[in-house]
Amino acid sequence: TLLIILLTAAAYLLGSVSNAVWIGKTFYGTDVREHGSHNAGATNTMRILGRRAGIAVFVLDFLKGFIAVSLAALLPYAAGSPALFNMKFVLTAAVVLGHIFPLFAGFRGGKGVATLAGAVLAVYPPAVLLCLATFAVVFMLCRYVSLASMTAGILLPVYTVFVFGQHYLPLILFCCAVSVLLLITHRKNIGRLLAGTEPKTYFHKRPDR
Ligand code: G3P
Repeated sequence: TLLIILLTAAAYLLGSVSNAVWIGKTFYGTDVREHGSHNAGATNTMRILGRRAGIAVFVLDFLKGFIAVSLAALLPYAAGSPALFNMKFVLTAAVVLGHIFPLFAGFRGGKGVATLAGAVLAVYPPAVLLCLATFAVVFMLCRYVSLASMTAGILLPVYTVFVFGQHYLPLILFCCAVSVLLLITHRKNIGRLLAGTEPKTYFHKRPDR
């Protein structure tokens, strides 16, 4: 039990490392939360600070999700056991809550897309790979990262059940929870998309501000 608590706390603390905030402040003297969508994520970092910084934030946010959930391997659970799955579920929740409400960045973090992609990859890789492809297709068609993120999130449980034929209820509920969480964190984007004011994203080297 102590190890479970320690790993959960470690996942939350890892999630709390707000890569968009520290990279922006350290290398560009800018808090990305004061500009653009005010979100501490890869998309807004790319929007404000350019492609290099945006990609760095995506990779680091993705890795922290993947690493946090991979900590479950430190527990003495058999591969494929329900206990291992439950622990991965808890670690996913901890790392993404850390990312959205970061202890080290005044509890104002991101929307959880990159971190969830990394975390869910450590839980159920096949569906995530299809979600990444979905993201790429939707994004190339419309240039809205938010719409691409939400579409990929909504399709996660759909792919899990209908493409991969998974009928393990906890996994399906987990995927549904990821979908709902992404819709909640994107609520402002939904409003902007409906109002036609959501900005499109292009891979600028260093955009003008
Ligand atoms: O990275 C989250 C993305 O889906 C939307 O970000 O900055 O356009 O609200 P943003």
